[in-house]
This record gives sequence, structure tokens and C-alpha cells, in this order.
Amino acid sequence: MKKIVISTGGGDAPGLNAVIYAVVKAAVSRGWEVFGSKCGYKGLLDPDELVRLTPEKVEDITPTGGTILGSTNKGNPFAMPIENLAGEVQIRDVSDRVMKIFTRMGFTCHIAVGGDGSLEIAHRFAVEKGMPVIGVPKTIDNDLEATQLTFGFDTAVSTATEALDKLHSTAKSHDRVMVVEVMGRDSGWIALNSGISGGADVILIPEIPFDMEKICEKINDNELYDKHYAIVVVAEGAKARDHEVIHKGEGEIGRSEKILGGIGLWVARQISEMTGKDTRSLVLGHLQRGGSPTTFDRLLALRFGASAVRLAEAEQFDHMVALDGIDMKAVPLADAIKERKKVPVDCDKILTAREIGICMGN
Ligand code: F6P
Repeated sequence: MKKIVISTGGGDAPGLNAVIYAVVKAAVSRGWEVFGSKCGYKGLLDPDELVRLTPEKVEDITPTGGTILGSTNKGNPFAMPIENLAGEVQIRDVSDRVMKIFTRMGFTCHIAVGGDGSLEIAHRFAVEKGMPVIGVPKTIDNDLEATQLTFGFDTAVSTATEALDKLHSTAKSHDRVMVVEVMGRDSGWIALNSGISGGADVILIPEIPFDMEKICEKINDNELYDKHYAIVVVAEGAKARDHEVIHKGEGEIGRSEKILGGIGLWVARQISEMTGKDTRSLVLGHLQRGGSPTTFDRLLALRFGASAVRLAEAEQFDHMVALDGIDMKAVPLADAIKERKKVPVDCDKILTAREIGICMGN
């Protein structure tokens, strides 16, 4: 009999609960036990934070957003921010404690559901501590190279597209330029997919540094066709040619990545100054991470969960499940975390965007 512990780490994504559901159902049907570790590794640092997961406990969670286990971006056991008695935060390596509890609880496998950061931690546990780990890829950004798609992405794109649909009528009524900032970190997938589907005039992605002149040219050109408004979609990681990416801050303690945000407002101000058009900007933000997963994301998440249990059965550890066409495959975690998946600048989606008159900022 196997005893699995499952954790969800990093930013949440719609579909996490569907993965948990599938893991519990597929494991229990094999006669195994499943525990959930709350907030990433919290349950593996304190057994009080472990929950026994049974089919009854997960019965109705598939359509729900978020994660019943909770998640964190600041829970790397190799560099954990811990407050000392004087109230100072110190970074400490508590990975040995994680291993002690993992062994004491008799776990035979850890299914780590997460994005690049969480999968990197999982891989370190496999290589440096010998933990039997299986990864499940998760991110709304769709920036994991080793899998064709991640769950959460389709829901995020649907939310962004719906927002763009709604903005058309208000932009048109006021002859305004609406600039919408979407998530995606250093990849432009959410901006590109939602921008094309939502009828954007301009799409700005990190892979194509943009030129304000070209953007304003497109907005002014709209007037020639009796269109007095425009929709501009900006990925949070997009940057103007010869400029740096705009950050909200240097990041948080215990977290390596910087917090992005602000490019939408910057672009809106430039457009307003350069065209004289009434311009507004909005940030879709965490709306893109919320809500019920789309059918596509639920199905993908359920398949990832079941596939992870199959890998546990085969004891194919230090691997991640991945979508490969219509099938699932196992990819070494080392390969999965190597690179971020960027939008190829010559891909069909960009070609399509340009052919239907969308300005890509260059
Ligand atoms: O990686 C997912 C993501 O939503 C990014 O698109 C975004 O930059 C980041 O997480 C936001 O993180 P937080 O929830 O910490 O603000």
C-alpha cells in the first residue's frame, strides 16, 4: 500500500481542486492513502497541518476555484522566511525537517502541484534529499516549456476575453482608448490569446518590445475607418523598446521573483499624450486566477491528477506529467524547469493577429 502526500504551491490556478480530486479517487481506488499538506510544505513541517483526504472530502470540489489545501509563494523549505524571537525575519533551510516528517509519516510519494518555482523545489528534494517526487504542472501563465498546456490558462484567457468583450461597448460609447493589463509574467500567452479572441486593436507582449509610435499610428488609423475607439491589451511583462520591464517592487521576503505591474498605466499615459485621445487603463489582476475552471481546464487537471497516480504506481519519480498532443507523458523534472515557454514571434497566432489588422507594437 502506498501513502501519498499532495501539496499545492505558488500562485493558485483554476483546476487545482480537480487535480486533488483525481489524485484522491485514483489512489484510493488502488487501496492507497492520501494526505494533503496545507499551504505548500506547511503540513510537511508540522503534521498538524496535514489533512487526510478521502473521496467523501473531495466529492464536490472539481468545479471550484482556488485550492482546498491553500497555497503560498513564500514557502520554499530550502529558504524559508522565519521570524525569530526578536521579531526579525531570517531565511533558514528547513528541508531536513521536511524529510524527517515525510519519513516519520511513512509517505511513499509526494505529488507536488505547482509552477516553475514549486517544481524547482520538488526537484531539489528529489535530487538532494532523495524524496520520491512527482510534479504536476500548474500556472495560468502557460509558461512551462515541457508541457503543451497547463491548466488554469484556459480559464484565465476566458476571463480576459470576456472582460475585453465588455470593454468594447463602453470604449465605443465614449470614443476612448481602453488599455487592459493582463497577467503572464515574462510570457505573452494570455495577452495574445485573449487579445485576438477579444478583438483588440493592439496587443503588447514581452517577446516583442514595442514602439509607442507604431501603437499611436494604429489608434489614429482607426479614425480613417470611422472607428473612434481602441482596445489595447498589454501583458504585465511587456516593455517598450529601450526600456526596462516595469515592476511594482523588488519582491517579497522569501520570494525570488519581482512583482510585475504598472505597464498598462504607463502605456495609457503615453497614448493620451501622443494622440490626445481620452484614455483609460485597468488591471485585470487576480480576477484571472479566480472562479470555476472551464471544462477544458477541469478535464486537463483531472487527467494530470490521474496520470500522476499512474507515475506513482510505476515509481517514476523526479518526473512531471505533461500534455503531449492527445496523450500524457512523463518528463524529467530537470527538463521541465529548464526554460520558460515564450511566444515564438513567428508563430501562427502572431501571423493571424497581424493579418486581421492587430498591431503587435512593432
Ligand atoms: O504566475 C502566476 C501569476 O498570476 C502571474 O501571472 C503574476 O505575475 C503573479 O502570479 C502574481 O503573483 P501574486 O499572486 O503574488 O500577486
